[in-house]
Amino acid sequence: MIGTDIHAAKLLLEAGEPVAIPTETVYGLAANAFNENAVLKIFLTKNRPVFDPLIVHTGSIEQITTLVTGMPETARCLAQQFMPGPLTLLLPKKDVIPDLVTSGLPHVAVRVPNHPLTLQLLSSLSFPLAAPSANPFGYVSPTTAQHVQDQLGEKIPYILDGGACNIGIESTIIGFDTMLPTVYRMGGISIEQIEAVIGKVLVQTHSSSNPRAAGMLKSHYAPRKKVIIGNIPQLLHRFSEENRRGEVGVLSFMHDYGCPKQVILSAEGNLNQAAGRLFAALRTLDSLPLSVILTEPVPDVFIGRAINDRLKRAAAGQTHTEEGEW
Ligand code: TXA
Ligand code: MG
Repeated sequence: MIGTDIHAAKLLLEAGEPVAIPTETVYGLAANAFNENAVLKIFLTKNRPVFDPLIVHTGSIEQITTLVTGMPETARCLAQQFMPGPLTLLLPKKDVIPDLVTSGLPHVAVRVPNHPLTLQLLSSLSFPLAAPSANPFGYVSPTTAQHVQDQLGEKIPYILDGGACNIGIESTIIGFDTMLPTVYRMGGISIEQIEAVIGKVLVQTHSSSNPRAAGMLKSHYAPRKKVIIGNIPQLLHRFSEENRRGEVGVLSFMHDYGCPKQVILSAEGNLNQAAGRLFAALRTLDSLPLSVILTEPVPDVFIGRAINDRLKRAAAGQTHTEEGEW
């Protein structure tokens, strides 16, 4: 059921049930982070392997400090600058966080989501919320309540509707155990924004040798359709020579390539707008009778780096056999 009743969501969460919640990034599938049975329901609902840890959401930085044994100065600076907001910190966990939440890792991922309904919900609860994105494991993250309903509606008792997510791409994940802080997932807060606050950081968003570290599972997180990234006019030419133009959908950054099945992310070339529309566009194209989605990289700056990362992972979905998601 979809609704805007915060009290109903609170009661279900207190009873150990999962509830889908809006955030500024994507919708999450939330449960009481202190209740292992409730957390287990998240894994089962999403069909998510238990070795992929969950982010814990709190209503404030103060609440984060009750969940972790320490916060380095760099983490504190980032928290002050960007929370509430699309930034997740990896910090050493206290025992109150069940091992199931962190998949046995010594660190917990924590963030304060910037959405008024969810902040109100969190402030009414006596526990934080463990919440991965509210999609079946491996698929594109949901950015509206209807996206959640379409795929998980029958499995969860309530979807709190907070409208379309205004960032539209998941949070940036950063850890502090390395010489320089390391970004493990690019997301709603750009590398440029982070470096303006704490100086140089490392970016390590892939690991095939140690995929468990920082949740760097090889991504899947992809539409069902084949996605090809490249020069769209050249790709269209190739497909029309092969007489396969009708099978093709186009996801373009700002140009109109004249393809009948085309989504333009931002006609004015605005990267934030493009990020906000990306996942809904992938879902739309995925639902059409096409066999391939042609797309192109966006400028690789600010949130554009996170967009390109997600496009690459969407395109990688068909070739990787290891499941994983962001
Ligand atoms: O924007 C977001 O972060 C959204 C909203 C709902 O908050 N959440 C989200 O969660 O994207 P999820 O589970 O789809 O992705 C979280 C990523 C996973 O790749 C996971 O492996 C990693 O964070 N992660 C979570 N806890 C971790 C930990 N303790 N250590 C390393 N990586 C962790
Ligand atoms: Mg996810």
